[in-house]
Amino acid sequence: MNALSLYSKISNDDILIYREQVEKIHHTLLKHQATGWIGFPFQNQENLINSINYVASEIKACADVLVVIGVGGSFLGARAIQEALAPYFGLPKGGIEIVYAGLNMSGAYIKELLAYLDGKQVYVNVISKSGGTMEPALAFRVLRLYMEGRYGDKAVERIIVTTDEKKGILKEIADKTGYRQFVIPDDVGGRYSVLTAVGLLPVAIAGIDIQELMDGARHAATELAEKDLAFNDAYKYAVMRHMLYEQGYTNELLASFEPGLSKFHEWWKQLFGESEGKDHKGLYPSTVTFSTDLHAIGQYIQDGRRILFETLLHFHEIEGDMEVPYDVRDEDGLNYLANRTFNEINAISKQGTALAHAEGDVPVIQIELPKLDAYHLGYLIYFFMKACAMSAYLLEVNPFNQPGVEAYKRKMLELLQEEKAVTE
Ligand code: PA5
Repeated sequence: MNALSLYSKISNDDILIYREQVEKIHHTLLKHQATGWIGFPFQNQENLINSINYVASEIKACADVLVVIGVGGSFLGARAIQEALAPYFGLPKGGIEIVYAGLNMSGAYIKELLAYLDGKQVYVNVISKSGGTMEPALAFRVLRLYMEGRYGDKAVERIIVTTDEKKGILKEIADKTGYRQFVIPDDVGGRYSVLTAVGLLPVAIAGIDIQELMDGARHAATELAEKDLAFNDAYKYAVMRHMLYEQGYTNELLASFEPGLSKFHEWWKQLFGESEGKDHKGLYPSTVTFSTDLHAIGQYIQDGRRILFETLLHFHEIEGDMEVPYDVRDEDGLNYLANRTFNEINAISKQGTALAHAEGDVPVIQIELPKLDAYHLGYLIYFFMKACAMSAYLLEVNPFNQPGVEAYKRKMLELLQEEKAVTE
């Protein structure tokens, strides 16, 4: 698939000075212990997909709503896919409503969530690789008690745990209580785990075809296994953004023209931010949804400090469209657009934006895919994960750890322990 179609400021020839370095990193990457996700789409996933679809069918038949508990890599990917493919209004086709918990520590959020669940049939999928992260652990405590209060002995059948195969508090609780479990492979880190049960179970319950998603990922895995930068679009993207960073464009803006992609932006932001932002290095990843944000932050992009470059994400075909109607009065003067579709006008606004921004010294990289569907999202997810790992290595940082996140957790726990000592 020719995903990377256009760029400015840096040419195909310019990037080739990185050819040797990229090839070296390519081999290093394959040896790293946290890169189970690279080969995952090639493995036979029939058993996993069948068992996920089996559990998903049961949940779709018995529940009105699934509560997914998780934070960071344990929920962002599922929500990204689910919201990108969900209808804008109303319930998903062939799936049930998904709501999220354990992604924050807002008392108002969790209290309102419980009130919202009342009167609905509920299942819970709690997802945590370490099994001990504060946000999901707190939410699970609340929801576990809630489910036991509502369903008694049957609650155990309505809670599904996705966690490490062998270790962690959540694993211990799941074994002791007898919850059904899905495994997060040891060699796949949180933000690289969306194509495992972490993302697959919730999206299957949302009615999305996970086989299609994995087929798209396998297509990407096959194409992007290429070690030569000249023939690998994910590596080209990694090198372009690295070169722009070196030229002083320190912020990358991922921009889409479809509002349903706003949660996909969040997944992308975490992937790149947590993988690259280390040792006082790394592009700052930010996101915008156009045309909405052209009327908010567009002024800064066009005319503010020249530290931004833009990665435009565009899907040629979006399901659902309508023509601008003809109005005999033409009081608004818009009859010249009658019979053109909204998606056509949106695509033209994308072209105009790319031209205006490039002229204003905002380099533009463009990633284009044929259709917004499960297959191409699977492709794109893999594309970004591969590009991200390469990018981080070009910066000479480890793409697979997150020491900065640990620092906040330590400080919070110290403060909570101090409070505990005072009250005892
Ligand atoms: O990418 C990561 O590793 C993190 O964002 C984790 O996914 C996040 O901190 C949640 O961790 P856990 O799944 O262990 O609860």
